[in-house]
Amino acid sequence: MIQINDKSFDVFISREDIQGKVETLAAQINADYRDKNVLFIAVLNGSFMFASDLMKRINLDCEISFVKVSSYVGTSSTGRIDELIGLNADVSDKHVIIIEDIVDTGITIDKIITLISEEQPLSVKTCTLLYKPDAFKGKVKPHYVGFAISNTFVVGYGLDYDEKGRNLDEIFQLKENGVTRGEIN
Ligand code: IMP
Ligand code: MG
Repeated sequence: MIQINDKSFDVFISREDIQGKVETLAAQINADYRDKNVLFIAVLNGSFMFASDLMKRINLDCEISFVKVSSYVGTSSTGRIDELIGLNADVSDKHVIIIEDIVDTGITIDKIITLISEEQPLSVKTCTLLYKPDAFKGKVKPHYVGFAISNTFVVGYGLDYDEKGRNLDEIFQLKENGVTRGEIN
């Protein structure tokens, strides 16, 4: 168990399971995009660790760029998007893969997909380490999903609780009333 500010968390997904899944996702992308012109767009801050591990296993002739949005405070999504900062690569001749840490309500990813699509890339797909299908209200489901999880709050491996916990190399779930209920599907 770990403590971050006022909350306790238990290990949910081990580093071995994360690394195994990253390997699987990279292999799928390598096969699907062979000989294509790919631009990975990683969404900061949360995806920095996942993007780093994933990209080390990508063997395509590709580029990576980083964007930032701001939409989330504390343990529940506010649904507020400020803006997309940093998209200055020319995407018009590229297949874009957006790298996310987690897709929860889907509001953030919908907005990012809309903004990127305006630049008319050849295609746009999303690769997310975590996905909460029960919370999802977005238009386009993420294409590459590491773990579909129940509606539980998680930290670690890039994900934060009030900006803490991003450095942890495992994923932890919130303990509520002393118990954890998260499931990996
Ligand atoms: P969405 O717009 O509701 O899909 O949420 C997107 C953003 O909320 C993610 O990129 C995360 O930054 C944050 N978020 C959603 N669920 C969690 C969680 O369980 N732990 C930490 N951050 C989360
Ligand atoms: Mg994020």
